[in-house]
Amino acid sequence: MSSPDYFEVFYAINPWMKGDAPVDRGLAMEQWQNLKTALKRRAGAQVSLVKPVPGLPDLVFTANAAFVHGDRAILAHFKNAERRPEEPHFRASLEALGYTVIEPPVPFEGAGDALIYEGRLVLAGYRQRTEVSAHQLISRTFDLPVLSLELHSEHFYHVDTCLCPLEGGHLLYYPGAFDEYGLKVIEANVPEEKRLTVTGQEARNFACNAVQVGRCVFLNQPSARLSEALKRRGFEVVGLDLSEFLKAGGSAKCLTLRLN
Ligand code: ARG
Repeated sequence: MSSPDYFEVFYAINPWMKGDAPVDRGLAMEQWQNLKTALKRRAGAQVSLVKPVPGLPDLVFTANAAFVHGDRAILAHFKNAERRPEEPHFRASLEALGYTVIEPPVPFEGAGDALIYEGRLVLAGYRQRTEVSAHQLISRTFDLPVLSLELHSEHFYHVDTCLCPLEGGHLLYYPGAFDEYGLKVIEANVPEEKRLTVTGQEARNFACNAVQVGRCVFLNQPSARLSEALKRRGFEVVGLDLSEFLKAGGSAKCLTLRLN
């Protein structure tokens, strides 16, 4: 994770950033601390930190730093020039943690666009930020099958904004963010009883941008319906208020990068 000391919205690279409500940084700090504390206390997570850097407001979204698997990490190469200066900071943090860092030759936005399902399959997004050829790099590097899902809605520009693999083979996702082909790919690989779809309203509240550690699922203000559905599947739901980060198009999952 990376503390929101310099978090703000002063450029707009996704539709969420075009809103006119300014970020309350004090509140953002409080919300971020609550997420960090909840991850530690509720799930026993250990948290490593990337030092915040002035002028890099989106560095808080560490999910985008890299795709990490085993002891190697494919570093992000951001599509937008605004975020490219984050790359050396993420590289240095990953190297300090002992990872071998691989640089992709094309735009690729890390775990924002590549999620492991059941430890054996990568569900990866492309078109808005990540080049589809980066998926081949993941596949070749880690010898894992990658299912490429086209993201066709501007609001759901990273696959982690509309899809979230959960333990036990469950998959939380928003069908409206995918095309017919993508939906077929999901349906062909995830048994029906394991699929948990969210509504447009829940998706716009970043329901799919959830972090799961052990049995706990951490997410922004879940609806009663979704909390119930998750509980029925055996999860403990930890609802948080991450309103300030939604203004930049991110939520719980975007604020973390899973390292194991
Ligand atoms: N403002 C950031 C961007 O547009 C938000 C990144 C959210 N991260 C994520 N993993 N979805 O790049």
